[in-house]
Formats: sequence, structure tokens, C-alpha cells
Amino acid sequence: MPFDLFSPDCLSIKLNLRVEENYLKMSQVAAELLVCELRNLLTIKPKAVVVLSAGGTPEMLYSLLVRKYKDSLDWRRVVLFQMDDYWEMSVQNPKSMAYYLLDKIVYPLNIGTHYLLNVFTAKSTKLVESYTEFLDEFEEKIIAEGGIDIIVHGIGSNGHLGFNEPGSSFDSKARIVTLEKSTILENSRFFNSITEVPTQAVTLGLNTLSKARKIFLLASGKNKKSAVRGCILGPVTKSLPASILRISSSTTFIVDKEAWF
Ligand code: PGA
Repeated sequence: MPFDLFSPDCLSIKLNLRVEENYLKMSQVAAELLVCELRNLLTIKPKAVVVLSAGGTPEMLYSLLVRKYKDSLDWRRVVLFQMDDYWEMSVQNPKSMAYYLLDKIVYPLNIGTHYLLNVFTAKSTKLVESYTEFLDEFEEKIIAEGGIDIIVHGIGSNGHLGFNEPGSSFDSKARIVTLEKSTILENSRFFNSITEVPTQAVTLGLNTLSKARKIFLLASGKNKKSAVRGCILGPVTKSLPASILRISSSTTFIVDKEAWF
């Protein structure tokens, strides 16, 4: 993809880029910045509303939060919304992203309030009649909690944000999506075989995600380089969903050297 630093899109860049030595350093910097942001927020607001992604990239960040920053702030004042999950996968399934967040973040840090975007569990426990009702209510809860203060994103090597695959509308809301083959292949590392990877998922939409007041995007490894560079240096385009971050809130990219050079 050709990079034009002088295109109107590029001139509207409102982001910070931190290129760190390696995955560990990237995670340490992300933990420091995230905790600092949360502490500042909690001096001016009773609650901080965050959306956290699951996946391999933020694993070290979450582990550091639990090991080093558990006592650094009152995590009971944090409200967590899940960003995405596989469709028709129960929260009890260790492969689900809901399970991941509960296991790695919500219970260890004693997060005060959490909302899971796990449609399967909500439906099977008859909490809702239909998934559209569930998704609409989820969006309404975000608004009722005051909107998203902070998001921690990973990025797919195809540039997806949450499970908003290339071609997703910038106006999209929470919905069921079909995963791209490249995403299924990439995520197969968390499953016994590729055939076990769900082909559909549920995700917050780009419209909702781009309204966050502060965004951190983490990327590690050379398979993310093209997406990261395209997102920062290329045009804002639906074919690279993460490029929406350039025209949204203040974004800090924290990447390791392999994902940039
Ligand atoms: P990963 O996924 O952190 O497991 O690489 C990132 C993403 O798909 O957004």
C-alpha cells in the first residue's frame, strides 16, 4: 500500500506512536499508561468505563496489571464492557473471550461491574429473547454508563478492530459477523484444530468503538507490521478497519519493533 504522508487523511493524524524494544517492554509501557489514565479519570469521575479486548497481544499487559498494579487503584470503580466474542460459545467455554476476561482480569482485579458480550449465554439462560434485543441493550448500557472512557485494542493482521473485518462500515453497531479466513487461521492457534474455530462472532461496531475518549492499540510481531503501518501511514479506508482510529479519539499506538520496522 503506498503511504502518502501529505494526504488530507494523514494530516489529520491525532495519535501517538510508541515503538518499544520487545513484547515485554510494550506490555510494561501499556500497563503504566493505562493505570495512569485510569487513576486520572478516577480523580474526576466516580467510575471509569473501559472496553478490553481478549487475544494474545494484551495477555502480558493483563498479567502485569494483576501482578504489579492490583493495589494501584480502586478497581471496583472500573466498569468493563467486553469488546467481542465468538458466536454461540458459552461463557463457561475456556476458549470464549468472556471466559478469558473473567479469568485474567475481572476476578483477579475484582473489577466492580462487567458486561459480557456473550450472546449465547444470555440467550440460553433466557436473559433475552433474541440476540438483536441483547445487542441493542448492550449499546444502551454503554450509553447509560456514560460512554467509553478507554479502550485497549489489539489489531488483526488484516487490520480488523474487535471482530470488525475489512469492509465493515464505519457506522456499524454491535452485531453478528462472519470471520475472514485469515482471522480463522490466525485464531486457530488457540484451538486444537482449525475446524474448531467458530466462523461467526459478535462484536461492538466501529461507530461505538471510535467514540471512546482514549484508545490504546497494542501490536506485537512482524505479522502485524503491514496492518500497523497501513493504519498509521495509509489512507483511512474500510478495507483497513483500524484506520478509523486516525479520525476518532486520541489514540496511542504501543507497538514493538517487529511490528513497526
Ligand atoms: P491477537 O489478536 O492479540 O491474538 O493477535 C488481535 C486481534 O485479532 O485483534
